[in-house]
Amino acid sequence: MKTLLNLTLNGRAREDAVPENMLLLDYIREVAGITGTKSGCDGGECGACTVLIDGRPRLACITLAHQVAGRQVETIEALAEQGRMSALQRGFHEKLGSQCGFCTPGMIMAAEGLLRRTPDPSEADIRQALSGNICRCTGYVKIIEAVQAAARERQPEQAA
Ligand code: FES
Ligand code: FES
Repeated sequence: MKTLLNLTLNGRAREDAVPENMLLLDYIREVAGITGTKSGCDGGECGACTVLIDGRPRLACITLAHQVAGRQVETIEALAEQGRMSALQRGFHEKLGSQCGFCTPGMIMAAEGLLRRTPDPSEADIRQALSGNICRCTGYVKIIEAVQAAARERQPEQAA
């Protein structure tokens, strides 16, 4: 049975008729048609589906769409501004923190959640924040460097 779901997705208010048992990941990709958020394990193990819910990283593959009624949901598509990559996106690109790219949207959203609450994180903070996100390509060192570069770049804007 479908019931109405109201939420804000990437800054836009939406209302959709959604099955009560639909996962947030399926809602984002199939109903909203926003496909940057990836489906890896579908079991809460890999972090590929990480989105922000009210600014906090959450796994969309183990969250029901109706659980986010009235909340703010952000996906990787929310980060670029007027066609320009965000500091985190640029950091991953320039530091080679993205290779095949499959884990990258989830990694970046987990890092975005970290930098919003901890603008100047230690390496241990970054490793902890990304500990639920699996990457098969990079060995993680370049991902850590990417987040550190983004944190440095964001400092002036956070202080402004
Ligand atoms: S797809 Fe959600 S944690 Fe793997
Ligand atoms: S870049 Fe390929 S899984 Fe992370």
